[in-house]
Amino acid sequence: MVATHVVESKAPMLEQTNDLAEAETTNVEPAEKSTKITSEDVCVYYGEKQALFGIDLEIPENSVTSLIGPSGCGKSTYLRCINRMNDVIDICRVTGTIKIDGKDIYDPSLDVVELRARIGMVFQKPNPFPKSIYDNIAYGPRIHGLTSNKAELDELVENSLIKAGLWNEVKDRLSGPGTGLSGGQQQRLCIARAIATKPEVILMDEPCSALDPIATATIEELIDELRSNYTIVIVTHSMQQAARVSQRTAFFHLGKIIEEGETTQIFTNPQNEKTQDYITGRFG
Ligand SMILES: Nc1ncnc2c1ncn2[C@@H]1O[C@H](COP(=O)(O)OP(=O)(O)OP(=O)(O)O)[C@@H](O)[C@H]1O
Ligand SMILES: [Mg+2]
Repeated sequence: MVATHVVESKAPMLEQTNDLAEAETTNVEPAEKSTKITSEDVCVYYGEKQALFGIDLEIPENSVTSLIGPSGCGKSTYLRCINRMNDVIDICRVTGTIKIDGKDIYDPSLDVVELRARIGMVFQKPNPFPKSIYDNIAYGPRIHGLTSNKAELDELVENSLIKAGLWNEVKDRLSGPGTGLSGGQQQRLCIARAIATKPEVILMDEPCSALDPIATATIEELIDELRSNYTIVIVTHSMQQAARVSQRTAFFHLGKIIEEGETTQIFTNPQNEKTQDYITGRFG
């Protein structure tokens, strides 16, 4: 179990983080949540070079966990361990254990294709397929045989677009190209595509960094809505975004987790000097 205790935020506020503390946060969760993803002693090597060193992390279900830290510290590498995307990088080797719902996802008997359907991923740059809006969403369900007829598929496409907050904007142009949407719409299309395979976990690697503030706000609201049904892990370079959208935060530095805990605590009362330096903009 992951303790999501409420931290009394009476601790002295760091001057530069006032705006973070004041950012509208959704991160006080009195109840305990079950652990969805457990990492134990995860190390990752690209050839001779080690990128992650003994990552231990428990990620609670139905909540948002932010991964923060300076460029090159291993956030994307860690995220890719969770859906075994590192498998496709020839020189990459992963050791240690990652369990989802207590099951080792590196067990040789595990079906990786099925795993990736359970773990959706959204990337930094919106990457719709060069297909229609409808087919972007229908692609995954077709491959995984999630529906048995056209009416069911239509309904799944519609529901996925509704959940991603895009339905009203695209319902009259479902046969139009996905690439014809604005950047923010494309990113919501990619979120709808991730949702369509009915995942339990959604991994997001800097999902707003290519978007303007309005599109970013829409995606952040969406993340907040989605968290009641999905376990979300988000990499972000924006401290404000981490403070706004996540309940827990892990700070990575040079391939290690320096500090991890409730988002409010990390931003108002970090226990490690490096965390404090990073969130106050002294490095990174
Ligand atoms: N495909 C790869 N081949 C070789 N080295 C890699 C590869 N991908 C990442 N690395 C190295 O692993 C380390 C961690 O990279 P990673 O991309 O995980 O960092 P990051 O925290 O996501 O950085 P950023 O914030 O810039 O996205 C870096 O030193 C990087 O150069
Ligand atoms: Mg990255």
